[in-house]
Amino acid sequence: MPPLIAVSLSKTSRTYEIIEKSGEFAINVIADNQLDLAKKFGGAHGHELDKFKEFDVATEPASKIGGSLLSGCFANIECRVISSVRDLQGNHAVCIGEVLSFKMNEGLRPLVWLKNRYFRVGTECRL
Ligand SMILES: Cc1cc2nc3c(=O)[nH]c(=O)nc-3n(C[C@H](O)[C@H](O)[C@H](O)COP(=O)(O)O)c2cc1C
Repeated sequence: MPPLIAVSLSKTSRTYEIIEKSGEFAINVIADNQLDLAKKFGGAHGHELDKFKEFDVATEPASKIGGSLLSGCFANIECRVISSVRDLQGNHAVCIGEVLSFKMNEGLRPLVWLKNRYFRVGTECRL
């Protein structure tokens, strides 16, 4: 059984529109040295501008799906949608993807979003 991953998307977002149409998506797990990228991509709307062109970001072609991946990320995950749940209450839908490709950069650390702020991964917790 391949690994599965779920994403929750605003039904009014351009991202959701594209995923529904193409049946695939990529997750770019931002590294902690890419805060500017997180703010730019998380704060702009694809209905209003082409973020990839507007922000002049480094990209590379995806290997298993169409489109591009952001370069320099902690991880890039390429997925094919196997199921979508659209009739939830509220304005989000959940898309479940089968992981087709997973790439991790061992030398980097992920940026963490917690309580509306960005953090670096901290110290290890042990019992
Ligand atoms: C840290 C962070 C996490 C976010 N997570 C989600 C999410 O899980 N689902 C979602 O629909 N939007 C999320 N957003 C908001 C979208 O990034 C934002 O609405 C974006 O403008 C949508 O752009 P689009 O219309 O090009 O898809 C998040 C934003 C930030 C800053």
